[in-house]
Amino acid sequence: MKAIAINKYGGTEVLQYTDIPEPQIKPDQLLVKIHASSVNPVDWKIRYGHLQLLTGYNFPLVLGFDAAGIVTAVGDAVTRFQVGDSVYAYLKSLPGGADAEYAAVSESAACVKPDNMSYEEAAGVPLAAITALQGLRDQGQILPGHKVLVNGASGGVGTFAVQIAKAIGAEVTGVCSRKNTELVESLGTDRVIDYTTQDFTKNAVQYDIIFDAVGKQSFSQCKKVLQPNGVYVTTLPSTESLVQSAITFVLPGQKAKLIVAQSNSQDLAYLKDLITADKVRTVIDRTFPLSELAEAHAYSEAGHAVGKIIITMT
Ligand SMILES: NC(=O)c1ccc[n+]([C@@H]2O[C@H](COP(=O)([O-])OP(=O)(O)OC[C@H]3O[C@@H](n4cnc5c(N)ncnc54)[C@H](OP(=O)(O)O)[C@@H]3O)[C@@H](O)[C@H]2O)c1
Repeated sequence: MKAIAINKYGGTEVLQYTDIPEPQIKPDQLLVKIHASSVNPVDWKIRYGHLQLLTGYNFPLVLGFDAAGIVTAVGDAVTRFQVGDSVYAYLKSLPGGADAEYAAVSESAACVKPDNMSYEEAAGVPLAAITALQGLRDQGQILPGHKVLVNGASGGVGTFAVQIAKAIGAEVTGVCSRKNTELVESLGTDRVIDYTTQDFTKNAVQYDIIFDAVGKQSFSQCKKVLQPNGVYVTTLPSTESLVQSAITFVLPGQKAKLIVAQSNSQDLAYLKDLITADKVRTVIDRTFPLSELAEAHAYSEAGHAVGKIIITMT
């Protein structure tokens, strides 16, 4: 099958269009013919070798965690899917494997695709929206009426975070640059702050949850604009965020937390319900064919994607 694989860690030049054998599925897996995948920043972090202790040296490695496509075979232990089902999935094993014609997908990482989404739209959902959902719900303990600020509201994770927080009934402030304010408003925000002219950490408003989807403001910087029992959640692991998280875990009052997204089919089903109810949609910035994955990575690395970058297999 056609795939883009890497045979060493490095820049975009290590992404090679290649022919490799179709994956062999285990009893609890589906073989999915991929129609679309998407680029997440973790893909190029893996490509550079930033996670090589986890991703190892068993080259070639195929990247890509998000998949949308059709089931073409099922393992003996699979109970919820059959050949022909349209699915979307957040691939569980490092380093993914969705940037290819076929991927082996654990049953527990997949869900039937929402009918009201194309494969391209569905491929934008899994990793980014699960991060937003688990960040707000599991780490932030979001409740209806909470005042929530989403920093990086125009990005892949942020566009979903704004919509999920609104769907749960929160009052949402989105932080983005001037050029993206209209889009972020269209996602349902109650207020938008342009980070190029205003620093939200210096304002008088206090939030129950600050969800730093782009990891640009630390807990220390946000403390003054967090409620006394407020929660700061970041997507970016750093020594500081780990230390702050450990310290605030044992102290009363404000908490600093780190989200590390976990693939699971229940959360994909939860998101499917929100999508079917037209409460969540995928904002697509650009779509690239698989053969231009290197360009898609470079675009993501530039740090200004608005919503998701989609990869199509055709
Ligand atoms: N821990 C986890 O499990 C997990 C899961 C998913 C993602 N992540 C991490 O979360 C981060 C965001 O992921 P993503 O997919 O949302 O990235 P992304 O789509 O590439 O984010 C790009 C967006 O960030 C905005 N942005 C850049 N600088 C900003 C700033 N100073 N303030 C506010 N917005 C700013 C950009 O808007 P402008 O063009 O206007 O600047 C752009 O719209 C990445 O570091 C990723 O690795 C972690």
